[in-house]
Amino acid sequence: MPVTIIVGTQWGDEGKGKIVDQISKNINIVARYQGGANAGHTIIVDEKEVVLHLIPSGIFHPHVTCVIGNGVVLDPVALMEEIKMIESLGVKIGNRLRISHNAHLIMPYHKLLDSLREQSSTKIGTTGRGIGPAYIDKYMRTGIRVVDLLDRNTLREKLISNLEEKNKLLKNIYSTKELDVEEIIRTYQDFDKKIDSYVTDTSQFLNNELRKGKKVLAEGAQGSLLDVDHGTYPFVTSSNPTSGGACTGLGIPPTSVTKIIGIVKAYSTRVGNGPFPTELENKIGEKLRSIGHEFGATTGRPRRCGWLDIFSLNYSLKINGVDEIALTKLDVLSSFEEILICTGYKVNGKMIANFPTDIRTLDNAKPIFTSFKGWRDDITGIKKFILLPKECRKYIRAIEKLTNTKITFVSVGPRRSQTIIRK
Ligand code: GDP
Ligand code: IMO
Ligand code: MG
Repeated sequence: MPVTIIVGTQWGDEGKGKIVDQISKNINIVARYQGGANAGHTIIVDEKEVVLHLIPSGIFHPHVTCVIGNGVVLDPVALMEEIKMIESLGVKIGNRLRISHNAHLIMPYHKLLDSLREQSSTKIGTTGRGIGPAYIDKYMRTGIRVVDLLDRNTLREKLISNLEEKNKLLKNIYSTKELDVEEIIRTYQDFDKKIDSYVTDTSQFLNNELRKGKKVLAEGAQGSLLDVDHGTYPFVTSSNPTSGGACTGLGIPPTSVTKIIGIVKAYSTRVGNGPFPTELENKIGEKLRSIGHEFGATTGRPRRCGWLDIFSLNYSLKINGVDEIALTKLDVLSSFEEILICTGYKVNGKMIANFPTDIRTLDNAKPIFTSFKGWRDDITGIKKFILLPKECRKYIRAIEKLTNTKITFVSVGPRRSQTIIRK
């Protein structure tokens, strides 16, 4: 029962979309297991840049079926826009999209509460897509699920009861305008017709397909250091992007997982607030942002940039059980004279043994760097590892040595063809 999991090993935006699209040519089903439209996964299709937020990144391969699993929080408005956008590119979705009947829905009040909370308490720097508030309702057991959309009476009942509470919050805590139940009902009750043909028991579907020997790729969104349990809490997202989340978020057994691929950007970025020990708030960081086009695929916000952090990466590889690495955006480093890698942190003058997820410790962490000589050649057209500049190969081998993990994909540009495969 072969399931491969793709996980982001840093703070998201590692290039998961590109690698999932690349690998999908040998895959039958690609399934998203957590997060929502906070994700922005970029793929280049026929020279056009496409950003996917909810639909798995295998959709541009006509033989691939895409699954939105029970662990995802689904914004039907964003979904409809995305389906339209994909179809406008001449891509047929038809029965290649399956949506879990158990996935929770993002409602207008989730987005509103997301932005109001950001203004009034610890500013996480969320994407404003309603993710946190939707997961709160899921765990509070008051959430509205995809299956509820298909029954107008249930939807009405649940909306009325949810809005009763949310409107009190809006009025009494946030001193803002209450939402109109009937208006939301009008917008949302129309989704039943639009969404009906895609909705199914995706856990059942996946398990049946796996039994037939079909290959499944579980596509993580966000990154491991944004994991609500294992990341830099509270500056995290509200789900489990780490590999463990794939089983609960899809309803497949851990024994079905045969491979875990960690996506590693050749340097580090973070969008939103929170600790970032190797951040470069200087000209070098600006250069990384400008060459790497480091602006959020969902919000357009400038991404904070810094050197590769092997100390946090090794933590990430360990908690995910990563078998192999796909190294992305190596081409971005091409014009740097010196490239640094962080190999450990000092806290209060002492080296520490393990990556701390407590932000007070992280705020005091001083990164310790090893220096590497850069290379000047353009590597974006190189197809074979051996043809990469000597210093570049040295950098790749050093990461393999420091992580004790094989790098099987080296991405040297955003296109499918710009990938060196090392098996
Ligand atoms: P994701 O969220 O992990 O899928 O990553 P994003 O799509 O948010 O951000 C990655 C960005 O880098 C996108 O603009 C990609 O097109 C681009 N990209 C991916 N791989 C490479 C690469 O190897 N080199 C360069 N220069 N860009 C890349
Ligand atoms: P992909 O899948 C990078 C960040 C936000 C914020 C924190 C919480 O494209 O890698 P949320 O809206 O989830 O409540 O925000 O998480 N964040 C991401 N950062 N890439 C993402 O997704 C992200 N999704 C959320 O910026 O810091
Ligand atoms: Mg992204």
